Amino acid sequence: MNVLLIGSGGREHAIAKSLVQSPLLSTLFVAPGNPGMAEIAQCVVLRLDDFQAIIDFCRVQAIGLVVIGPEAPLVAGLAEALERAGLKVFGPSAAAAQLEGSKSFTKQFCIDHHIPTAEARSFEAAEPAKAYLSTRSLPIVVKADGLAAGKGVVVAASREEAEAAVDQIFAGGIGGGSLLIEDFLEGEEASFFALCDGTRALPFASAQDHKRVGEGDKGANTGGMGAYSPAPIMDGTMTERVMEEIIRPTLKGMAARGTPFKGMLFAGLMIGANGPKLIEYNVRFGDPETQVMLPRLQEDLLALLLAAAEGNLQEKSLRFSPETALTVVLAARGYPEAPQKGSVISGLDKAALVPGVSLTHAGTRREGGKLLADGGRVLNVTALGKDVAEAAARAYQAVDAIDWPEGFCRRDIGWRALKNLGAGKKN
Ligand code: AMP
Ligand code: GLY
Repeated sequence: MNVLLIGSGGREHAIAKSLVQSPLLSTLFVAPGNPGMAEIAQCVVLRLDDFQAIIDFCRVQAIGLVVIGPEAPLVAGLAEALERAGLKVFGPSAAAAQLEGSKSFTKQFCIDHHIPTAEARSFEAAEPAKAYLSTRSLPIVVKADGLAAGKGVVVAASREEAEAAVDQIFAGGIGGGSLLIEDFLEGEEASFFALCDGTRALPFASAQDHKRVGEGDKGANTGGMGAYSPAPIMDGTMTERVMEEIIRPTLKGMAARGTPFKGMLFAGLMIGANGPKLIEYNVRFGDPETQVMLPRLQEDLLALLLAAAEGNLQEKSLRFSPETALTVVLAARGYPEAPQKGSVISGLDKAALVPGVSLTHAGTRREGGKLLADGGRVLNVTALGKDVAEAAARAYQAVDAIDWPEGFCRRDIGWRALKNLGAGKKN
């Protein structure tokens, strides 16, 4: 079967690496892809907002499955445009992608379906938002309603900071000009993924992201600076609780409103004293979570995505390696505010020789035989190990083999799991 994968980041490179292992695959096309993906797939130039051009390409190349990586084309309706043209697609319709595209939609959905989440109110003007702020305790969370590429959330420690965030979201028109003010949840965060076919959801895997740019979880929020999988807190009991209290009610509720969810449902969770609460949904694979989940997967990813696309997932537990995978994101200096592009990267061959290590490209380009930085998050270095300590040691050994003075990374990815490991707790 020929497959078209949409996207160009580390997530899509990791998906590509898994897809090419499938005996079902003939040719993998990626649009637009990146220099890493170009080594294992055929990159094609397609405008992601030109649905007809994508449909025409799929017909000419006899594409049997389209896998959509990022959220923006999903929220824009690419999946159903392709399905209307008779193509098979892994990824939700625009109506189902509202679970990520509109935080106020998701909040109301959670209330309607008794899904545990933080209390929140939505606002379309600054004044009532600030009046509400003055009635809540601190810290408090201010969120742009629509897609904001990881930049729409401020966890404010003071009322001044919260008010500034309100002004900034309205003044900047971030996330569609409305916002949510949400109570702060205490606990430990985890990312949990469920593979969905419209009616069924299978637990996929868990991961822990590191969203802040600086060590010790300090500094600005980013798309994610590193991750590890599994998240120790998501043991069998917690996974079943999350499936029962959050994921299954979501599948049922979405199907009941005529907008069934098909694709990867990514729940951002806060696990607190009273159990799991939903922080947010994403409607796709995570980045960089995918880079740590897929190296552990011991199943045919293409067969799974195809079954989900066809509404035909078999109820079974998916096999994953018991090893831990850890990924370190290498970013260009200046990220997330103003990453500097164009610096030269070398040493990837040496890095890839470290046992258990694989590299994915996130924001690179090739020019005259050189590899150049071309984005904020530029490379991901992933390692498998018997535990988080071994995975981290291998990943940082590979990071140190890469020659890129203009890049940086966090040196403490996995710190929470490492601390627990050191304290003799289970990992
Ligand atoms: P989001 O884009 O909604 O995932 O938010 C980004 C980050 O902000 C999350 O990963 C959390 O670390 C934090 N966050 C968002 N909402 C809350 C909340 N209600 N309580 C505590 N932290 C939150
Ligand atoms: N790592 C968070 C995300 O993919 O949205």
